Amino acid sequence: MNDLILGIETSCDDTAAAVLDTEGRVLSSVVSSQMAAHRPYGGVVPEIASREHLKNWPPVIEQALEEAECDWDDLGAVAATSGPGLVGALLVGLSLARAVALARGLPFFSVHHLEGHLYSPFLDAESGAARRVPDAFVGLVVSGGHTVLYRVEDWRVETLAATRDDAFGEAFDKVGNRLGFDYPQGPYVDRVAEEGDPDRFDFTLPRFSQPWPHKRPEADPAGESLNFSYSGLKTQAIQHWLRLQQSGSTDPRDVADLAAGFRQAAVAQIMERVQRLHDRRPIEHLAVSGGAAANRLLRRELEDWASQVGVDLSLVPLDYSGDNAAMIAHTALLRARRGESDDPLEAEAASRVSLGGVV
Ligand code: KG4
Ligand code: ZN
Repeated sequence: MNDLILGIETSCDDTAAAVLDTEGRVLSSVVSSQMAAHRPYGGVVPEIASREHLKNWPPVIEQALEEAECDWDDLGAVAATSGPGLVGALLVGLSLARAVALARGLPFFSVHHLEGHLYSPFLDAESGAARRVPDAFVGLVVSGGHTVLYRVEDWRVETLAATRDDAFGEAFDKVGNRLGFDYPQGPYVDRVAEEGDPDRFDFTLPRFSQPWPHKRPEADPAGESLNFSYSGLKTQAIQHWLRLQQSGSTDPRDVADLAAGFRQAAVAQIMERVQRLHDRRPIEHLAVSGGAAANRLLRRELEDWASQVGVDLSLVPLDYSGDNAAMIAHTALLRARRGESDDPLEAEAASRVSLGGVV
């Protein structure tokens, strides 16, 4: 493959396009947020997302090409997210990429959204070449839809643990919604938590004796799974909040303390899983990604832990933590280097699609 690669991402509520060179250097990464269109509804409305993508893709792609100082003739490949996500939203970006590949005779890549996140910590924040992906690493993806630990070896991806119910970011959104923040609430809860006392409210750490969704000897040698759960934590936070309201609370410190306690417990759960995994088989390299990998406390705790135990840590640059198309083009590039590509006529959008054995 020569020249530049165009990535397109429309799996949810962001219309994104990016241009990377063959070194994985991000020449442009444009993300057009639809937040304003969805905000009145308190969450993403699938029908609106599709319509917004249809409206947004021409200027977004134009801007991506312009910022990369290139035009269509400079493209050597095109990639788009094919799932998981909202099917109507995925179809917009995927159909577009298929059409471009067919019309221009370019190699085409259909990319798994979570694989995009998984390798995104190796993108360079300063527009340098992407760093080499280690032969073996543990990937942690924390987003609004997923909380997953993967083991990646020679490009084989295996799921070690996933959430049984709510995702990390989703729990932040739901608790933040009760606290009165606008969608997406995660970043607000994180910011307010910086000012609060995390030890004022009690939260418990869930652990499971039953492996789920499937037993893996490495993940569950003692029959105890590494899976996550955030729904109980969310309920505990909401109950604390209801009690505060019944007591007539109007002190802004209450919101800050509650957010801080909830965030501390949410992050502690991740650190506990990572530590247990490390105890079972030492982690050499941990790569952390996903929209919620922007969480300040999570980043601080992971950095402290990694330097204490001597684990190499790659934290996704904040520019590429939320949904973006640079990570999609990057994953396609990694596949292109291995001699892989996809048939644009065969590509299909799917709302649920497995990566590493778990959908
Ligand atoms: O990866 P992403 O952009 O979209 C999905 O694929 O889900 O992740 C968005 C999620 C939302 O739930 C958002 O509230 C959460 O990530 N998030 C955060 C923070 N920044 C974004 N959650 C906690 N703390 C943050 N700083
Ligand atoms: Zn995502």
